[in-house]
Amino acid sequence: MTKEIKKRIDHLAEEIRKHNELYYNKAKPVISDSKYDELKKKLIRLEKEHPEYMPPDSPTQTVGASVQNKLKKAKHTSPMLSLDSASKEPEARHFEETCLKEIKEEIGYMCEPKLDGLSIELVYEDGIFTRGVTRGDGFIGEDVTLNVRTIQNLTQKLKGAKLPRKFAVRGEVLMHIKDFNSLNKKQVEEGRDPFANPRNAAAGSLRQLDTRITAQRTLDVYCYRILDYSEKMPKTEQEMLKVIEGYGLKTPPSTKYCKTIDEAIQYHHDLEEKRDDLDYEIDGIVIKVNNIDHQKVLGTRTTNPKWAIAYKFEPRKEITRIEDIMVSVGRTGIVTPVALMQPVEVGGVTVSRATLHNMDEVKRLGVKIGDYVRIQRAGDVIPKVTEVLKEKRTGREREFKMLAECPSCGAGLIKEDVFYRCPDSLACPAQIKEEIAHYVAKDAVDIDGFSEKTVEQLYEVGLIKSVSDIYDLKRDDLLKLEGWKEKKTQNVLNAIEKSKDVSVERFVYGLGIKNVGKHTASLLIDKFGSLEGLIKAEEEELLQINEIGPEIAKSITIFFDTKKNIEEIRKLKEKGIRIKEKLKKTEGRLAGKKIVLTGSLETMSRSEAKKAIEEAGGEVQSSVSKTTDLVVAGDKAGSKLDKAKRLGIKILTEEEFKKLLG
Ligand code: IVH
Repeated sequence: MTKEIKKRIDHLAEEIRKHNELYYNKAKPVISDSKYDELKKKLIRLEKEHPEYMPPDSPTQTVGASVQNKLKKAKHTSPMLSLDSASKEPEARHFEETCLKEIKEEIGYMCEPKLDGLSIELVYEDGIFTRGVTRGDGFIGEDVTLNVRTIQNLTQKLKGAKLPRKFAVRGEVLMHIKDFNSLNKKQVEEGRDPFANPRNAAAGSLRQLDTRITAQRTLDVYCYRILDYSEKMPKTEQEMLKVIEGYGLKTPPSTKYCKTIDEAIQYHHDLEEKRDDLDYEIDGIVIKVNNIDHQKVLGTRTTNPKWAIAYKFEPRKEITRIEDIMVSVGRTGIVTPVALMQPVEVGGVTVSRATLHNMDEVKRLGVKIGDYVRIQRAGDVIPKVTEVLKEKRTGREREFKMLAECPSCGAGLIKEDVFYRCPDSLACPAQIKEEIAHYVAKDAVDIDGFSEKTVEQLYEVGLIKSVSDIYDLKRDDLLKLEGWKEKKTQNVLNAIEKSKDVSVERFVYGLGIKNVGKHTASLLIDKFGSLEGLIKAEEEELLQINEIGPEIAKSITIFFDTKKNIEEIRKLKEKGIRIKEKLKKTEGRLAGKKIVLTGSLETMSRSEAKKAIEEAGGEVQSSVSKTTDLVVAGDKAGSKLDKAKRLGIKILTEEEFKKLLG
């Protein structure tokens, strides 16, 4: 038994070492961060239970990986520690409890985004940048001074009248997403492999033997901690950030001092919500005990301090295997290859499909059926495959070939630019189903309870063959179908009835004209006033609209020149659709008002509130800014409410909002 445990410890240690090497030195990890954390936690637990078996060089006792031979080695000013991590709220609360055991007074926390880059030590002597060292194993790193000198975004000479003799800081080097995208575009154009993510791109750019290559890459550095200072050391983390900024170096954006752990947890939730809007990747927050004296009392463990914790976000990158690749036909006939994968949880959602976009992307990734891949999910978007783990190939993988014919209607596919398209838009079942699903969607005519599955079922049993058939659905026919009970049937019929009153912009968007999104639909109605006006519009008149180019204009005229479409609009009107004309900007109770919704409302959904605002002539904004007129705050309103208060913007409760709507 004991032998068994020793074997397990050795095996885990070896595995973690292998992953350290892949992550830190090769910048090519083959497992996700959460899987890695899991392995490490397992080893820590086993070593705690059986300290006698802990290998002397256990990866729990070091940070990172052994130093690569290529770059010159350099010793750190002080060991570059790592952080203990938490992934759930109770663990963050437990962190506070352990701190409070040692410190018997109030503790404040400095909270910062956990930037997903690579750690670096920067040394300035008499205000001049003299040394840059990567983390390496935490004690000895790689000397990347020459490369750091080429980073244009980094202050090479500190600002200020009185410069310190010595100033060493720790920071994070990262690549912004826009720079990462243009770098990858260039990599592919030049026939090189693209980088899997901005972190790997930053690491690959900084840890270059050829400084000229680093100089061509756009990197950025954010500093968060003073390691050595010839002047008086600040007393808090917050002051440290101020000193760093005072010398002209950047500190992490959106940091926040939090008086309590509750505030820190709220900060975590707010930042997680904002995550997709940022131009850099963050994978959590770092909570640090603010007072340096408190930090000294708490002290450090072998590899991480007891006064800080990385409170991670739900991981959104995972590794899984592609079981098959199929094609999906969209509303406009575009045929997209879709990977069917072994189900895996990403960011709290189980996913089993990922888009491969088009055949050029399949080629660029080099993806085959049977491959292990890294997938990534952002917000509600369908996950995408970002990288193939070629080292995991067995030789049994199969290549995917695009079909010659549409899998839904059998029409020969045509190639347009990078896409394959089914040309038969009038009779292709897949396209018709997608059109119907688009019409009923939330942002379009919005028929509640009419999911894609509902469309599929009603189409397959022959109850709907086009959008207008929705309005002929009969209670008795629906009740005969599988899964349709009294309540569901009544709800759907009510929603269909409610959808008959629709604003003209939503209706135009719902028609699913190629290249016409919500914004364009609204522009069109602004210009032509009504649906009838738009139907009659000539291509030249369409082109007079600023944002409309020849391609969009052409799709619009083709759509309204197609008899089937005009016939469908006529049928919809006959069946009782009442299209409400657009209010002028000066009409309606909320005319011209810019409104932000935050938190959850009790008596209406987000989309109902949005619709009500639009119908009253107002506009819904996604974030609070100086131009916002009103903020409607529901339950659990977070950072948007704070910002509105800061900017002195009028805040309404749900009740006040409803009164305003009348
Ligand atoms: S504090 C002793 N602050 O996250 C202090 N680290 O898993 C240790 N990181 O190795 C670090 N943003 O590379 C700190 N605002 C931040 C950070 C940050 C990113 C990285 C850093 C560290 C890792 C911890």
